[in-house]
Amino acid sequence: MSNKAVSYAGPGKVEVIDTPYPEFELKDGPGVNPANIGRKVHHGVILKTIATNICGSDQHMVRGRTTAPEGLVLGHEITGEVVEVGRDVEFLKVGDVVSVPFNISCGRCRNCKEGQTGICLNVNPDRPGSAYGYVDMGGWVGGQAEYVLVPYADWNALKFPDRDQAMEKILDLTMLSDIFPTGFHGAVGAGVGLGSTVYVAGAGPVGLAAATSAHLLGAATVIVGDLNADRLAQARSFGCETVDVSLGDPGEQIAQILGTPEVDCGIDAVGFEARGHGHDAGKEQPATVLNSLMEITRAGGSLGIPGLYVTGDPGASDEAAKAGSLSMRFGLGFAKSHTFVTGQCPVMKYHRGLMQAILSDKVNIAANVNATAISLDDAPKGYAAFDEGAAQKFVLDPHGLISSN
Ligand SMILES: NC(=O)c1ccc[n+]([C@@H]2O[C@H](COP(=O)([O-])OP(=O)(O)OC[C@H]3O[C@@H](n4cnc5c(N)ncnc54)[C@H](O)[C@@H]3O)[C@@H](O)[C@H]2O)c1
Ligand SMILES: [Zn+2]
Ligand SMILES: [Zn+2]
Repeated sequence: MSNKAVSYAGPGKVEVIDTPYPEFELKDGPGVNPANIGRKVHHGVILKTIATNICGSDQHMVRGRTTAPEGLVLGHEITGEVVEVGRDVEFLKVGDVVSVPFNISCGRCRNCKEGQTGICLNVNPDRPGSAYGYVDMGGWVGGQAEYVLVPYADWNALKFPDRDQAMEKILDLTMLSDIFPTGFHGAVGAGVGLGSTVYVAGAGPVGLAAATSAHLLGAATVIVGDLNADRLAQARSFGCETVDVSLGDPGEQIAQILGTPEVDCGIDAVGFEARGHGHDAGKEQPATVLNSLMEITRAGGSLGIPGLYVTGDPGASDEAAKAGSLSMRFGLGFAKSHTFVTGQCPVMKYHRGLMQAILSDKVNIAANVNATAISLDDAPKGYAAFDEGAAQKFVLDPHGLISSN
């Protein structure tokens, strides 16, 4: 069997390559942790990929802002059909259509047992937590490919109840592998509930998913900030208020909307590649969003921080940030008794509930993030457009199953 995949080809570049068809064993390859080479995966399934999305998290690698090696097969947002089951898989069957959490987790360790699947202890020899196709995450091969291996499959995969129904809603359901649960986790972490006022920094797909989630959770007003006009228009398309941070710090514009420069809940859907505000909008200032969220979130409030922060950034503008140290005004957070919720989203906590919300027409996540299906061969174009700030979430369609739907 042949296989094609999207791989990282050096800063600013991805290419579509021929790559081995998966086996029930983790083989050596770019980015594979030596301690994971030869690991047997009889608990895995092989998926024929139906949908696999390009993510802002991939962009950090493709922009050369991580230590990702060239040749790394990308892709952690995976939805597919089971075409082979490993010897130790009990419940999944060939033909099942499933969503795969981007976090790989074992279901056996202390953290998995406590629902913290984003920091599983058994899948990544480098550190707790793992993902497909990602630097320092153990070396599990990415899913922006025709076929992909999913370990601990009975535990990880979420089976859709009905194949035809799933294919009808595939552009919504594909968001369950990452951004919808991640945005939801951001909103839950920020304490969003009935009547909350919410500020979401970032109108990329994660920010828009967080805003969607805030609406689902009953927020009174959801304000989304960015410096990208098209993305702000996308946020307004589903009932969000917006703030253009290129005009200045968000507080003043929030006051124009709410009558006070303060919100109940703050969400960072930007991460370490944050731009400054106002005159500094052209410059990267990695702590801007964290500092401004402390400024505008009410005392006693929480900050949900799905935006990604790294322990090493070769492209950082200053020495401290190269080691992941940011100039955070932490004293302000202390003074206001803020709670900070960070880290990988434990997708499994939310994916079933959000699937039900999609299947029962309670939410239109695909429309809200402007999901756009493209072929695997067009992945380099999709990456380039996303990097330029297109107000779109690109969904790769490796077998043409979405376009023929
Ligand atoms: N924690 C997790 O589990 C998890 C999962 C998925 C993605 N992420 C992270 O979430 C972040 C967002 O992902 P995405 O796919 O939406 O990325 P994206 O790059 O498409 O979106 C980020 C947006 O932030 C905007 N921005 C930059 N500086 C800003 C500022 N100061 N204020 C407001 N907006 C600003 C950019 O213009 C851009 O539109 C990334 O860091 C990604 O790695 C984390
Ligand atoms: Zn992602
Ligand atoms: Zn585990």
